[in-house]
Amino acid sequence: MNLQFKKPSSKTQKLMSKTALNPKIAHRIAPEITVAEENVKKITQHNHAKIVNSGNSAIMSVMNSINGPFIFPDQGAWSGLKKIANFLNQEYNLIPTEKGLIYPDLLEEYLNTQKVVPSALFLTSFAGYTGEQPIKELYDVCHQNGILLIEDASGSVGDVEKRLCNGTHTDVIIASTGSPKIVNVGNGGFISTNDPQILQKSAFLLKMLRADPITCAGMVQEIKNASSSLSKTIEACNFLKKNILTVFHKDKRGINVIVPSRDPKTDSYKLRQLINADGKSIITKCPLYDRVLEKAVCIEIKNLDAACLNKNTLVEIKEHVHNILF
Ligand SMILES: Cc1ncc(COP(=O)(O)O)c(C=O)c1O
Repeated sequence: MNLQFKKPSSKTQKLMSKTALNPKIAHRIAPEITVAEENVKKITQHNHAKIVNSGNSAIMSVMNSINGPFIFPDQGAWSGLKKIANFLNQEYNLIPTEKGLIYPDLLEEYLNTQKVVPSALFLTSFAGYTGEQPIKELYDVCHQNGILLIEDASGSVGDVEKRLCNGTHTDVIIASTGSPKIVNVGNGGFISTNDPQILQKSAFLLKMLRADPITCAGMVQEIKNASSSLSKTIEACNFLKKNILTVFHKDKRGINVIVPSRDPKTDSYKLRQLINADGKSIITKCPLYDRVLEKAVCIEIKNLDAACLNKNTLVEIKEHVHNILF
């Protein structure tokens, strides 16, 4: 199939090259870092922001500033959450979900069973990148219970509906801007919050994990492209979810599509031969903590350049899925 894997836009690449060639960088005179932080604050509507060298660095810095226990979803979040909490010796518990989704009443019920009040709920904007979490409603429950909501918005920066990656209803936003992400720099990440303590408590770590000016220059440009890229990806997934016989979280917004499979190993192998982008796979085999803990195959629409998400391509993807899986 004629699919293109997502890459930074040519304007982003040019800006990054220009920054790399700027001799002032050697003297640590880098306005790009401040400009990127200002752009992150604008898009998340938080008052404070820091740019770091990866999404995991952002998560580690935030986890370092808060004492556990944390709550993580039992599936559909980022596996790095558990690894980083273990690394920092932070306690965490897994909340039971509806295939990754946490509903406000589920959260309330869960909190009633906890002897120690958790400090923070970490989740991704889209469970398994495929089901939008009810962030605002979860934020309300968190606040009634004195719990911080930390949203990993790697998949949702620039949401035009303003339901995701919106600092007015989440305490901390972290994101990876690595590849392939919505802010697709190929490197880096960020943290934003209204609570300066979150950043101050990890000031030393944030200094160690800071991003370089080249990444920051790329981030400024890719933030400009985020809304359009996200909207096109969500629209493509809506089309596929509507037209593929059975998918997880059919009526929810998402940036990839997960289809139940009786034999994920064989089905994912066959699909990889038919659907790939420049030879790179966009098929993930489940069960997988980061997607869904069910037998399924995941079509990672988020990995594709938005320019190739036209109707013909999507119909072809749907036909391959139907031929192999149903
Ligand atoms: C949702 C999510 N959060 C965080 C990360 C980690 O980001 P990074 O690779 O920039 O450390 C990833 C990586 O794929 C991710 O998918």
